[in-house]
Amino acid sequence: MRTPILVANWKMHKGVREATAFAEDLKLRLQAPDGVEVVIAPPFTALGALQRALQGSGIELAGQNLYPEAEGAFTGEISPAFLRDVGCRYVILGHSERRHGFGESSEFVARKVRAACDHELRPIVCVGETLEEHEAGRTAEVIEAQIRGSLAQVPPEASETLVLAYEPVWAIGTGRTASPGDAQKVHAMIRELLRERFGAAADRIRIQYGGSVKPENGYALMAQPDIDGALVGGASLDPASFFAIIRFERASGEAST
Ligand code: 13P
Repeated sequence: MRTPILVANWKMHKGVREATAFAEDLKLRLQAPDGVEVVIAPPFTALGALQRALQGSGIELAGQNLYPEAEGAFTGEISPAFLRDVGCRYVILGHSERRHGFGESSEFVARKVRAACDHELRPIVCVGETLEEHEAGRTAEVIEAQIRGSLAQVPPEASETLVLAYEPVWAIGTGRTASPGDAQKVHAMIRELLRERFGAAADRIRIQYGGSVKPENGYALMAQPDIDGALVGGASLDPASFFAIIRFERASGEAST
């Protein structure tokens, strides 16, 4: 019912040459994405080269951020219109590295989500609790506040274009993942919040898991009923490992749980 979506979030990695070499390699492995949606979110500077390299491949592009204005005196910022101009279909918003490293509030994320919708960019909205919040048993409360705040301005007609990403902050880049069962519980809760907000459309909104996803653990996570793909950081930098995750392959032959 929901097409799984696998997104490579390269963060601040890969210049133009490396990004292009990755695209050529992935195209050879993937041929045509079949039954999954595959998206690459490179640094802004590699978007143009990737737009050319990925033409006709079925692999989509995402921005890693935007500024919620169409244009203007905002030195150093990138508008949703520019992301569209360079071929992006998606944009990652509210990533924990932006919330915690750059002080972005859910209110600011909500403006960005709205700007993305207004420019027909599909937002990938990230939520997740810190280790401290996790250990204090505050996961549900934190996620609920982030979801309500970040999605406050989504126009109803854009609801089905949304993608959510549950990324526990303690799992990002640490090698620790939420167990498939624990992640499923949070995903089911997110879907309930989406149902309150958007009604039946909630069943068509994809919710990805992110945080140390690798070929060895991706399969068990994505086999959960409410986990509709993965937002992959470190393991997306190598085409072979990203491809293995796409194919739900288990490199070690054994899914970790
Ligand atoms: P890692 O896969 O490196 O843990 O990063 C996850 C992430 O932040 C993706 O957005």
